[in-house]
Amino acid sequence: MGEHGRLERLVADVRQGWIPAAVYSDREVFEQEVECVFGRAWVYLAHESEIPEPGDYVVRRVVHDSFIVVRDEHGVVRVLANVCRHRGMQVCRAERGNASHFRCPYHGWTYRNTGHLVGVPFHEDAYGGEREFPKAEFGLLSPPRVASYNGLIFVSLDPNAPALQDYLGGFRYYLDFYTRQSPVGLEVHGPQRWRVRANWKIGAENFCGDTYHTPYTHQSIAEIGLFAEHRPGKRKEGVVYFADRGGGTTYKLAPGSFEERLRSVGYPDEMVERMAQTWSPEQRALVAEAGFIVSAATLFPNLSFVHNWPRVREGGPPVPFISLRLWQPVSAGETEVYSWFAVDRLAPEEFKRDSYRSYLLSFGTSGMFEQDDVENWTSITAVAAGRWSSQIRLHSRMGLSREGRLLRQPMDGWPGPGRAFQGFGEYNQRALLEVWCDYMQGAREEARV
Ligand code: FES
Ligand SMILES: [Fe+2]
Repeated sequence: MGEHGRLERLVADVRQGWIPAAVYSDREVFEQEVECVFGRAWVYLAHESEIPEPGDYVVRRVVHDSFIVVRDEHGVVRVLANVCRHRGMQVCRAERGNASHFRCPYHGWTYRNTGHLVGVPFHEDAYGGEREFPKAEFGLLSPPRVASYNGLIFVSLDPNAPALQDYLGGFRYYLDFYTRQSPVGLEVHGPQRWRVRANWKIGAENFCGDTYHTPYTHQSIAEIGLFAEHRPGKRKEGVVYFADRGGGTTYKLAPGSFEERLRSVGYPDEMVERMAQTWSPEQRALVAEAGFIVSAATLFPNLSFVHNWPRVREGGPPVPFISLRLWQPVSAGETEVYSWFAVDRLAPEEFKRDSYRSYLLSFGTSGMFEQDDVENWTSITAVAAGRWSSQIRLHSRMGLSREGRLLRQPMDGWPGPGRAFQGFGEYNQRALLEVWCDYMQGAREEARV
C-alpha cells in the first residue's frame, strides 16, 4: 500500500512536468513498467525485411520475454515464444539464422518453423505415443497479439490491447515518412547492438522532442561542418508534433516546391517522384505547403526513428538516412540499444551506399551524435540513483508558464494529426510521459482511443 502510494505520487508529479529523478533509476518503477508498460503496449520486434526468405529468423525480446520472429516454410511471418514446452529451455539460442526446424538443446524436442512440435525422442516409450501425448497440443506458443504496419512487426502481451492501427492512431501519418517512401517500403540492415548504463526512457524522450540539446551537446558536429546548415538557432524554427502514442521533431526547409525541398536534403529525383506518388495529399502538404521535414521521433514505448542529412564528403551535398532504434530495457539503469540502418528498397544502389555512410557517421556504435548523447544519459541515470537525489523533481516544463499555461499556442493549419508547436519546448517529452503515466496507472485503453 505504502509502495503503491509512492508510485501514485510519482506519477502525479510526472503529469505536471515535474519528474522525480527516481523515474530514471528506481527498481519499483522498473518492475511496474515491465508489468504495465511492456506487458500491455504494442512493442516493436523486427522488420519483415530482416527475414526475407522462408526459414529466416531473428530472436528478439520484450524485456525478459524472448521470441523467435520467423518466416515459416509457407512464407508466413510468425512470432513464437522462445520457450520449450517441455522444461522451458530456450529453443533457439542463435541471434539470427535460417532453419526449417528448431531443436531444443535439453532433451531434443523438435519444432517446425511454423511452431508445430514434430519430434519427441522416445515418444512411444516415454509418453505413450500420440494417444497419451498428442504432439499437436504442444507447439511453441505465440504471444497474445501480433500485427505489422509497413513491415514493422509488433507484439502485445495483452490480449485486450487495441488493434495496432488504433494504437498507432494519428502517428501513422508521420510513421509513413520514415517507413514508406515508396509502395515497397524499407529494407533494414543491422542491427548494431550495444549496452549503455542509462534508463531506457531517456533516449525515448530525447528522440521524441529534445531539439534543445542539439546546439549544445552536438556543437562540435556543427563546427566541423557535418551539416550543410549549422546556425545554432536552426532547431527552434522546427516544429515538434505529437499524435496519440508518438511524436517527433522536424526541420524547417527553405522555400521551394515539394520536389525542390526534398532535393535540398539530398534525395535523388526518382525517389522524390515515388514519395510524391506514395504519400497522401495531406502528407505531401507537410513538405510542400508547411515546409517541414521529419527528423527524430519516438513511438511509445521504446521505438525511435531518425531522419537526417549530413554531408558524407567534405563540401559535398547532404545525404539523407533513416535509422530505426529500439531502447530495450535490461534493468532500471541499463538499456540495450538496437540500431538499424533503413533505406527505401527501391532507392538507387549508389544512394543506399552513401546513405549507409551518412548513418554510420552520425549514429550507431561509431556515430558522432551517438557518442555525444550517451555520456549525458549514463550520467543522468547514475546520479538519479542517489538515495537523496532520486527525490529531486526535475524540471520538464519548458513551454509552460509557472502556473502551467501554454506559453505558445499549438500551430494553426498544421497539416498532420495531433498537436504541433514551433520553437523550443518540452511538449513532446511531457506528452510521451503522459502516455507512460496512463499505462503505469493501468488506464483503460478505450479512454485514449
Ligand atoms: S526442455 Fe526442451 S526438450 Fe526438454
Ligand atoms: Fe542528440
